[in-house]
Amino acid sequence: MSSLAGKRILLIISGGIAAYKTLETIRRVRERGGAVRCILTKGGAQFVTPLSLAALSEDKVYGDLFSLTDESEMGHIRLSREADLAVVAPASADILAKMAQGRADDLATAALLATDKPVLVAPAMNSRMWEHAATQENMAVLKARGILSVGPNEGDMACGEFGFGRMAEPEEILGAIEAFFGRDAPLAGRHALVTSGPTFEAIDPVRFIGNRSSGRQGHAIALALARLGARTTLVSGPTGLSDPAGVETHRVESAQEMLAACEAALPCDVAVCAAAVSDWRAKEPHSRKMKKNGKTPPELVLTANPDILACLSATGNTRPRLVVGFAAETEKVVEHAQAKLAKKGCDWILANDVSQGSGTFGGAQNTIHLIDAHGVDSWPRMSKDDVAAKLGARIAKALAPAPAVKSENLKS
Ligand code: CTP
Repeated sequence: MSSLAGKRILLIISGGIAAYKTLETIRRVRERGGAVRCILTKGGAQFVTPLSLAALSEDKVYGDLFSLTDESEMGHIRLSREADLAVVAPASADILAKMAQGRADDLATAALLATDKPVLVAPAMNSRMWEHAATQENMAVLKARGILSVGPNEGDMACGEFGFGRMAEPEEILGAIEAFFGRDAPLAGRHALVTSGPTFEAIDPVRFIGNRSSGRQGHAIALALARLGARTTLVSGPTGLSDPAGVETHRVESAQEMLAACEAALPCDVAVCAAAVSDWRAKEPHSRKMKKNGKTPPELVLTANPDILACLSATGNTRPRLVVGFAAETEKVVEHAQAKLAKKGCDWILANDVSQGSGTFGGAQNTIHLIDAHGVDSWPRMSKDDVAAKLGARIAKALAPAPAVKSENLKS
């Protein structure tokens, strides 16, 4: 799942032995592209250190409400608002009681009172404390206020007793976080495949045929689709870019490897081919470095590469519902792109001008004409990130389930 891509979680660690499990939760959230910022209570600091949390979250750890430096840099109000979700794990009986009462005598409780964001708690305590009427009433108050909860589970407790009170496992907490973000994501449950970057076609072990594609547009599209909740697979040729957060990235070199990785990723709901695939490769790449024997340069014999976009567009059981290609053109941009749409059999083509001086290849901006069977939609010049977000929104709309027909509109 990649519904966590780009999401910010404010994680509050209160006092409880289960705090050690929270370290694993941080790792898993970050693996899926989420960012974690921690507040550690005094009780929590008895069980895990700020250093462990800082190392895993790669962020500063906050703990003191009255710290002059923290308050001047960030402030507890901003800290509580600059998140998409606040998670309290472990949530001790004490912090649940304070939350229910609206107390704010430390940074964690002040942030929870000040936040305007949803809150998820993962209670963890001795089973008697959990079953106590006070805790149960506090939980009822919090639930009535819309606070989400996960666990606790039944099992052996660190204190040697057995019962309800064990904090939910990191996997379950992660599941609750993903379920929260996934519920409104328009592409939740969809699988998107994106190609990006150039391909390198070997001539010999040191030389290759390549092109100037930076991969910026394709990578931005993969991230945008992941942010909309799609499980996203990115197949990328060699680029200097890091793997987008929350996206399953496969790095390849040649067109043949790119096609194999795309086919292995099928089935998918939408495929976006943004890679600048080399049309040709050396027919017989040399296994050893070619030497300058004499003065005559060697002749390079080329052969055609597979057309990945055309392969994915070919009708068959695994054809994605929506196949989107790009058309890199230097003249008659729309006209050539319309011909490409027909030739390749895809559903949409995003035509862009890559002529010298357009600044598209390697640049941060792009001018797009979206062409489909109905016509041409020309977008204003915008950043590649904005192109990705706009395309993502179009894709989400195209894949959205058709609205249910109301029974009163049905004619017999
Ligand atoms: N494409 C592909 N596999 C190839 C060549 C292109 O998947 N072997 C895809 C690109 O990712 C892009 C679209 O096809 O989505 C068009 O690429 P482009 O380079 O504009 O066109 P070509 O097919 O290479 O045609 P030409 O070079 O003649 O313009």
